[in-house]
Order: sequence, then C-alpha cells, then structure tokens
Amino acid sequence: MHRRLTVPSALVATLVLAIPASAANPSAGAPGIGDPYYPAAGNGGYDVSHYDLRLKYRPETDLLEGTATLLATATQDLSRFNLDFGLEVSEVRVGGRKAEFRKEGAQELVVTPASPLAEGRATSVVVRYAGKPSELEIGGWTAWHRTPDGGVAAQEPDSAVWWFPSNDHPLDKATYDVSVLVPDGSQAISNGVLVSQSSRLGWTRYNWRSNKPQASYLATLAVGRFDITTGTTADGLPVLNAYSKDLGDNAGAARASVERTGEVAEWLTEVFGPYPFNALGGYVPNVTSGFALETQTRPFYSPRQFANGSNVSVVVHELAHQWYGDSVSVEGWKDIWVNEGFARYSQWLWSEKEGEGTAQELADWVYAQHPADDPFWTVAPGDPGPENQFHLAVYDRGALALQALRNEIGDEDFFAILKGWPAKHAYGNAEVGDFVAYAERVSGKPLAGLFDTWLYEPSKPAAPAAAGAGV
Ligand code: ARG
Ligand code: ZN
Repeated sequence: MHRRLTVPSALVATLVLAIPASAANPSAGAPGIGDPYYPAAGNGGYDVSHYDLRLKYRPETDLLEGTATLLATATQDLSRFNLDFGLEVSEVRVGGRKAEFRKEGAQELVVTPASPLAEGRATSVVVRYAGKPSELEIGGWTAWHRTPDGGVAAQEPDSAVWWFPSNDHPLDKATYDVSVLVPDGSQAISNGVLVSQSSRLGWTRYNWRSNKPQASYLATLAVGRFDITTGTTADGLPVLNAYSKDLGDNAGAARASVERTGEVAEWLTEVFGPYPFNALGGYVPNVTSGFALETQTRPFYSPRQFANGSNVSVVVHELAHQWYGDSVSVEGWKDIWVNEGFARYSQWLWSEKEGEGTAQELADWVYAQHPADDPFWTVAPGDPGPENQFHLAVYDRGALALQALRNEIGDEDFFAILKGWPAKHAYGNAEVGDFVAYAERVSGKPLAGLFDTWLYEPSKPAAPAAAGAGV
C-alpha cells in the first residue's frame, strides 16, 4: 500500500490497525462445503478450530438449552455465513457483537455479522439456543434417540444439527469442550476425558474434553441414568464406560463386551499404530435402535447389539474406526469405504487372531454368500452413492477388496500399509484414490486394476478374492 507522508501519524496508526480487520470485497459463505452426496452439509467461508458447548438438559421434557461458542477463522472476506443447526436460536454474537440471523429450511442458520470478517481473521461466534431435539425431524430422519430417562445424539453422516450449531462436515474438524448440566441422579456422557463433575442446587455438571481434531458427526451427547466404570490402559489413558441402568437382559453381555475396550485397543495398536486420542471407552444407552457408531474416543452401542450374548466384534469394529474414520476421516462422504471396509476387515483380523476363522476364510465365505445376480454386486464400495452409503457391500465387498490387496502384495507390505496410513494422515482427511496411490507406493505394484475390480465394477468380480482359494 502506498502511503502519503503528509498524513498525520495518529491517522496512519489508525489506518494500519484497521487494515487487517477490513474485508476488501466481502461475499457470502457457501451454504454447503461442497460434498456432492450432501450439498447442504457443512458450509463455506470459515473454519472452526474449537467448540465450547455449555448445555442444560431436562430428561423429563427433553428440553435442551445451551450456549455454543465457536472459535472460527474466515477463509475468505465474509459478509455472512451459514451454520448447520436445527433448534431454536435466540441470539447470535460474532466477535462479541450482536449479529443478525435467520433460519433457512430445517437445518441452516444464516448469520450476518455487524461488520464483514476479513480473510484469515479469527473470531468467536456465540449462539444461544433451546429446543426439544426429539421434535426435530429432517426428511423423516432423526439423530436424536429419546429414551425413557433422557436422550442420545448419535448418527452418521450427521447428528450435530440436533444438538449444537456447527460446520457439519468431516472436512472441518475441531477440538471440543462439552459441559452439561443435568438433574442429580442423571449422568451426561460425551467424548474424551471427564475433566470434572460437580453438584449444586439439585443439578450436576459434567465437563468433557476431547482435545484432538474431531469431526462434528463424531461428537456425541447422552443423558440418562448410567452405571459408569473407569480404568486406565497400559499406556496410561483413561478408560470410561457407561451402561444404562435399564439394559434388561442385555446388561451382562453389554458389559462383558465393552469392558474389553482396553484389551481390544491394545491389540489394534499393534496392528494400526499408536492410539490417536486422549481417552477410551464406550457407552450403551437404553435406545431401541440397532446400530453402533464410532463416536470419537467413546463409541455408541445399542443394547440390541448384545441380544445374543457378548459381541466383542462390534467393539473391534468401532474401535478400529478410531484410526480409520475418526483420526483419518473421509474427504467426502463418497470415501466411506476408507472407514467401513477397514473396520470390517479389522473384525476379520480379530477372528483370525481368536481362532474363529481366518480373514481368508471369511472372505471366501462372504464371496460365496452372494451369487452373481445378487444386487449386492451392483453397489460400488468406492463410490456407493448417498442412498447406499451404509450398504452391506461397502462393508463386506469393501473388506474383500482388502483381502484381495493382501493376497496381491503379501502380508509384509499389507500390514505396513495398515499401520502407515493412519500415521500418514493422522487427524486429517483422505480419499479412496489417496489410499490406492499409497498402497501402490508402499508395495511398488500397480494396483489400479485390482481396486477398480473390487471397489467400482458393478458386477461380481470374475476373480475370487484369493488367488488359489478355490471359490
Ligand atoms: N459407522 C457406523 C458403523 O460403524 C454406521 C452407522 C450407520 N447408521 C445407521 N443408522 N445404521 O456401523
Ligand atoms: Zn463402521
């Protein structure tokens, strides 16, 4: 900038100070981050580094009240921006000043700061809100599981919209402090370390901290009446598990499975390398749904997962995601194989270790389960489409792809890749194509054909998973 020497020095100082704060040519941030599977997911124009959520929840009425403080940095000169959120908002402040806001559709909050934000500028966004998450349904879908004694936020690909405003896409990870006030006798469970807990005036506050980058869908909140067990891993990490007091006949099997979290993580550390986070655990609320989710540091399990007795395999699956999915996350939701194919394959490796069938035997079995005309083979795990994001093919054919890779390059390179990948992309994002390129580099073999066959061709591969396996 060319400055005239005749300008009084006090004014020069003012001008210089004003420069970093002025947005030369501000424009609106995009209402989506650019994921073709979910165009409304995430937002453009800023990046969040930290979420501080201070919440109060009443289990009898399902009323959630809170203040979210987001620390964000503008990635463009920004006149306004969106947050993804579904509950009722009463006030928004940006950089301490009241901002204009309006809801757009069920899950977009459009915020116009009092003055535009300059690119590169860090600011705080404070959102005050209240609402009943159980009353929010988006496209016939909810991520909120109301229970007789509370509620749980857990879903994929998004759950944040039901309980806090966010840039709701794995591309924008952040650290989290979640502080929740619940009536004495109830517990609030979230991610990471339980830093402290205190009671007064009939309410108990739980302060949770997840101090490594975390995708918004991996943040979780559960309020209910839980039994909590704690321990420490051999590496000194705190383990905290929580079981609803209301698990009925599944209570024993749930505990017999989830209590093995430390043991499973120790084994996975041998396979995948150092555990990436500051805490471990799992929680089993009294929900009626039947899925599990790799919520960061502390997976969510449904009681139904334990209806046939212990199920360590699901614990293996969700803990494997801590490396494959949580530390290394999808770049876009089309990359879901990088999560599910590996989590499934880790279950096969566990079975192999436990003497319950080798990965090769399980691959042969899965391959034989699906005849050539089974629609299973029309789903491409490498780009399944949003409607098939969690199709069995992403898991099972996805794991077959890894068995095919193992047979092609041999155990030494295969296990070097399983360990090298989480180190290479720790706390980041990666695409299917990045994995193919990495496997080619480590093995020194061209693998595009193999991955094309197993991840993209819409038919049953002619070649069996294992050369010479006789299927
Ligand atoms: N990532 C989860 C898993 O590991 C899948 C969750 C899919 N959501 C669902 N409602 N089924 O199994
Ligand atoms: Zn999974």
